[in-house]
Amino acid sequence: LNNNIHAWRNDHSIVNRRNPGVFKQMSQACRDRLVQTPTVIMMVGLPARGKTYMARKLARYLHWIGIKTKVFNVGDYRRDAVKVYTGNEFFNPDNTEAVAIRNLCAQNALEDMCNYLQNQGEVAIFDATNTTRERRRTIYNYCTEVCCFRVFFVESICNSPEVIQANIREVKLKSPDYKNVSEEEAVEDFLLRIELYVKQYEPIDDKITEKHYSFIKIYNCGERFLVHKIRGTIQSRVVYFLMNMHVLQRTIYLTRHGESEMNVQQRIGGDSPLSPAGITYTEALAQYIANENIKDLIVWTSARQQAICTAAKINAPTEPLKALNGINPGMFEGLTYREVAERYPEEFAARDRSKYYYRYPGGESYHDLVARLEPVIMELERAENLLVICHQAVARCILAYFLDKDPEHLPYIKVPLHTVIKLTPMAYGCMMESIPLSVEAVNTHRSKPKNCDPHRPVAEALNEFLEVRSETKTGPTTIQIIYQNAGTAIETTDAYGNRIQRR
Ligand code: ATP
Ligand code: F6P
Repeated sequence: LNNNIHAWRNDHSIVNRRNPGVFKQMSQACRDRLVQTPTVIMMVGLPARGKTYMARKLARYLHWIGIKTKVFNVGDYRRDAVKVYTGNEFFNPDNTEAVAIRNLCAQNALEDMCNYLQNQGEVAIFDATNTTRERRRTIYNYCTEVCCFRVFFVESICNSPEVIQANIREVKLKSPDYKNVSEEEAVEDFLLRIELYVKQYEPIDDKITEKHYSFIKIYNCGERFLVHKIRGTIQSRVVYFLMNMHVLQRTIYLTRHGESEMNVQQRIGGDSPLSPAGITYTEALAQYIANENIKDLIVWTSARQQAICTAAKINAPTEPLKALNGINPGMFEGLTYREVAERYPEEFAARDRSKYYYRYPGGESYHDLVARLEPVIMELERAENLLVICHQAVARCILAYFLDKDPEHLPYIKVPLHTVIKLTPMAYGCMMESIPLSVEAVNTHRSKPKNCDPHRPVAEALNEFLEVRSETKTGPTTIQIIYQNAGTAIETTDAYGNRIQRR
């Protein structure tokens, strides 16, 4: 790997986009004070220690808070290079041919990662075992000295045979490596693969040889942590996130409040009583939650009356959180879309042009809302079974976090009234079920209009937005499984598990 890296270094004239000449002359203390240096997060640990799980979750979180992040999984490069997996012998450190292939794959991933960070990326996660000191030293020196990036190691150490077995059964058996292989054979092969890595594994040495690195060691799924030499905001946010996440099975139920009087009048913002249909929804929701028989459920609502009243009939502890309040529409509070379009066409069109970043005069943007919701997301990561009762824009931001949606699409996610969204996080993704509870309500969703010119006719600005009582009725439960690899929805099934779409 070392030689290959040197060859690559000579072939490519890498110019750090933050001026490496200046960077290299700076002292370490001065480098540490720079806030925008691209960061490499290098995963470390034996197979089936949750490295990919953490890498993907971390990438999703950083993406959601607006940091351009990408995972580079060396296993994917290896599967691409060696089309057919022939068994654990491939991972034997004495298998020189295989070692050469593995080094080349690591080098290719490193090359792609550095190109990504040289161009648009801010954080890159190098997802491989990186189990030897030599491998870490080579990549570290290259990333810091040649590319002028910052490097942070995340090491997962887990010695519980039960956890390892469960991890293998949960994710490894579904790997393309074990297509057409029986479950028992696959488990046996994977355990032997781990043994081969154990032979050469050198945990990060925090006392002498590797004590200059920045790292976090995570023991037994977060039972204990060792945090060492944190440099900069990104690393401290990463540490904070990793210390909050857990791997326990849980379900998050998400719903908007019942239809409010202001919804009926199509007015935005507000602290409003429920409409008669909204009151009916409070009963339907309480019944649905009781039927689900959820262990130790906690309910969070916003601090607005429509959300607090929606929780009133549910038999579970309830906490109102101001951070869950709806987006603040500032000077447009209490107006209808039609009134804003007629009286403030420039503002209405500006929001259509860039709905995520547009900030209401005296109010908030979706971008502001994501910042306001970050502590809520952190609490959500710590939480177990939970029902969140909130508002349209807030529900969109929370969904965007779980489904890894881009800022451009976030403000247009459909979250109808009187529908429960059930989110079940899985190893590499999230299952989302939408359950309409058969109580009619108004439509409050307006899609992006084609014409965003401030001089457009009001009808075009409203984009056929329905100002009448309408369509949110009963419908089928839809289930989507979202895999957190570039945020792609892979499968959609109807309530009966029939596949209706595959992308
Ligand atoms: P490989 O080196 O083979 O790619 P890996 O270390 O990337 O393995 P994952 O594929 O991420 O392992 O394993 C996923 C499983 O790890 C999930 O079932 C998840 O619950 C579990 N897991 C998540 N975090 C941890 C952790 N800190 N320690 C042990 N297991 C974890
Ligand atoms: O064994 C697990 C694995 O993820 C392989 O799929 C992949 O080829 C390898 O680790 C990457 O790590 P290494 O750096 O040890 O080659």
